Amino acid sequence: MSDAQFDAVQSGYEAIVEQSISFSGLKHDFFMAAKADLLQNIVARHFETPRALDLLDIGCGVGRLHPHLHGKFASITGSDVSDKSVERARRDNPFASYDTSGPDGLPYADGHFDIALTVCVMHHVPPAEWGAFLKEMRRVVRPGGLAVVIEHNPFHPLTRLAVARCPFDADAVLLSQRRTRREMLAAGFSSVDVQNFLFLPTAAPIARRLERSLAKLPFGAQYAAVGVV
Ligand SMILES: C[S@@+](CC[C@H](N)C(=O)[O-])C[C@H]1O[C@@H](n2cnc3c(N)ncnc32)[C@H](O)[C@@H]1O
Repeated sequence: MSDAQFDAVQSGYEAIVEQSISFSGLKHDFFMAAKADLLQNIVARHFETPRALDLLDIGCGVGRLHPHLHGKFASITGSDVSDKSVERARRDNPFASYDTSGPDGLPYADGHFDIALTVCVMHHVPPAEWGAFLKEMRRVVRPGGLAVVIEHNPFHPLTRLAVARCPFDADAVLLSQRRTRREMLAAGFSSVDVQNFLFLPTAAPIARRLERSLAKLPFGAQYAAVGVV
């Protein structure tokens, strides 16, 4: 989907996603909370003081993840190719900063962030551009920082169903975790570790703990590939 198409859907973004996942009985926010929880867990394992870190969310869309991360980092910056999505994110989340990114890449200096995150964006990027996308992501993270790529598990039947029902995803090319890892290593990350999540349709703390113990099994609805710069 092009940036103009995401511009057109920004005001009804959550409703469209919820319609595509309605068979699960879960709300869009459930998935946002699970991602925020996973990110915080990853960050806490890698850094001593997460609250001192600057986070960039590439392809942040309308910024629905950010209320779940508010107060957990020194700063939250979102960027997206869709102007209208950035406008809405800025309006909804005054605690974060937002920028539109263009064909020349991300509008930030080398090594500007401690962590760069990208959630369900790469499957909208043409495969021929995956390498360049990841190199740009790596460029804006300081040495020793992290890049976290969260993507759909293409082998999960309910994920495939949700993608098939979602009008945004008509152009989606899903990435296997193996492919994402390979692309990240080729883009220069020194190591890449993959964690699976969204095994269970509940946010109960015990379920989250169980999910963490299963993280190496490729049966979650989504996964996070974590690259060290
Ligand atoms: C499915 S939405 C995900 C939005 C958000 N990350 C979330 O999880 O709610 C995909 C987003 O990726 C953005 N996007 C697509 N290609 C991009 C690129 N090359 N660079 C930055 N953003 C991109 C789109 O404009 C859209 O907002």
